[in-house]
Amino acid sequence: MIKPESAKDRIILALDVDTLDEVRELVLELKDYVGYFKISLPLIVSYGFEAVRLIEELGGRCYYDSKFHDIPNTVQKASINLVKNNIHFFNVHIQGGSKMITGTVKAVRACCKRLEKKPPVILGVTLLSSFGQRTLTTELCVERSLEDYVLQLAKVAYDSGLDGVLASAEDTKRIREQIPDKDFIVVCPATRPTWASVNDQVRVDTPRDAILAGVDYLVIGRPVTTAENRIGAINLIIDEIATALKEKEILNA
Ligand code: C5P
Repeated sequence: MIKPESAKDRIILALDVDTLDEVRELVLELKDYVGYFKISLPLIVSYGFEAVRLIEELGGRCYYDSKFHDIPNTVQKASINLVKNNIHFFNVHIQGGSKMITGTVKAVRACCKRLEKKPPVILGVTLLSSFGQRTLTTELCVERSLEDYVLQLAKVAYDSGLDGVLASAEDTKRIREQIPDKDFIVVCPATRPTWASVNDQVRVDTPRDAILAGVDYLVIGRPVTTAENRIGAINLIIDEIATALKEKEILNA
């Protein structure tokens, strides 16, 4: 995947809706203002590839939030089926382990070679933001800090051949320090401009903080999809990203 150039290309809009009509409406309105449209499990379960085809027919690009986590053989087969169905961007849980990830990356690459297709971008989910330190320690019996744990998962993702990870802005700073490869993609879920409601999110980052931390792509949903003026909302976010990119350039100069 080529690293995003413009501010708008960095936005992944979460389509957390239930019907194809809603997908159509949002894609038609916002396709020129975002890089990708994300579909996740609720929509995948009901409409799967139909939703993907619709997004693409309308001129959008799709990020398939598959969150695979199973034994290596099952994830490999599922991933190959995604590739055969022309999915170019999806993810797996890093907690599925290096054997699951390397096997999947290898199987997907071999399949793409056979079919003469460009390999997809595969990201790794570090730790869901619904996990806090207490759950990590008491339920998963992980003694290390949540920050160390996320960093360790990012290293596993990198060493196993994934193209990037999902991580918060704070985690991204550590990931960028420890994994200096600039081609390694970091996507920040749950971003919120300061003017938007956090909704049910607990840990959120502003687009500015995410960009300054070294994030490549930002996932954002309701602040745009439920706004009265969606174009106005997305334009504010594009401006915030563009300003942060300039600020970052100055800081790095
Ligand atoms: O509407 P909102 O901006 O909260 O949507 C954020 C999207 O990103 C949702 O689809 C949510 O499932 C996803 N996500 C997240 N936090 C994570 C991983 C994914 O909010 N850690």
